[in-house]
Amino acid sequence: MKIRWLGHSAFSISSPDDVNILIDPFISANPACPVDVGDLEADIICVTHGHKDHFGDTMELAEKNNATIICNHEHSVYLSQQDLDTKGMNIGGAIDSNGIKITMVNATHSSDMDFIEGIGPGGSSCGFILKLENQRKIYHSGDTGIFGDMETVIRNIYRPDIALIPIGDCYTMGIKEASIAASWIKPEVIIPMHYNTFPVIEQDPYRFKELVELSTDTKVAILKPGETYQE
Ligand code: NI
Ligand code: MN
Repeated sequence: MKIRWLGHSAFSISSPDDVNILIDPFISANPACPVDVGDLEADIICVTHGHKDHFGDTMELAEKNNATIICNHEHSVYLSQQDLDTKGMNIGGAIDSNGIKITMVNATHSSDMDFIEGIGPGGSSCGFILKLENQRKIYHSGDTGIFGDMETVIRNIYRPDIALIPIGDCYTMGIKEASIAASWIKPEVIIPMHYNTFPVIEQDPYRFKELVELSTDTKVAILKPGETYQE
């Protein structure tokens, strides 16, 4: 299994059976992203919400790869009107796509579709838990503030092994909140995201790593954009 960080909240995940999953593929306009849209492959594209820095190149990538877009109901209605393959979900539910179990979970964030002219209402922002063929579970929180269900629902029910959580502050949790979230979620590994893409979310990920590793058994894997965490 490989988890490649593409900068910001964009990840490319290859499952043990080689299913390619893109999450929040903000690529062409992402100043931190080192790859071209044309170089990415996807069977599944998961979108946490309709902000441009997450929705990104979803439509172009879905069309080019014949990928299924997994997103909330409101985005799914819009995307199916664009003749794209999409499965709409809502928070608390799960689906199976290409052998990957995908559960949509809560996030505390706004979610207008700001990539369309005039801005459309985008339903709820969300996170995803991906359960791979080898039963390893990856939690991508999307943009979110800290919330109690990270412990009562995400930890106690889903028990993710690897968590991808934001530390950039301003729009999401900052380092202090994210380190508390780490102690609630208790994954084996955290990969921080949504920082250092723009000046307003500049953070030192090593400060986060130190805070988490001093107080929990979780390891923090700091990636540079383009780098891969593999197991
Ligand atoms: Ni956002
Ligand atoms: Mn964002």
